[in-house]
Amino acid sequence: MKITESSRRVLVCQNRTCRKQGAAKVLAAFEKLSPSEVEVVASGCLGQCGNGPMVLVLPEEVWYSGVCAEEVAAITEQHLRGGKRVERMLYRKFHGFSQQP
Ligand code: FES
Repeated sequence: MKITESSRRVLVCQNRTCRKQGAAKVLAAFEKLSPSEVEVVASGCLGQCGNGPMVLVLPEEVWYSGVCAEEVAAITEQHLRGGKRVERMLYRKFHGFSQQP
């Protein structure tokens, strides 16, 4: 698949801490449920260990923390297909009280 700069990508951390918290299942769920035009990437550490599994959606740089496999459907439906981020699952460190789209 050709990736352009504007392509949407979902990075799912697969480094040690996030894996202990279930990141492999989260990655599998994204691979299964994401729209075909979205690239799902098994990433290295995203620098937020202990808050995982961490998920980063690019290019809009939206972070989700503590994601479990059962919650992936909400992100794929609402955010990846619907274009609206899932407020209740956002990583508060980076999206504390921001209401930006
Ligand atoms: S191990 Fe996932 S953010 Fe560091």
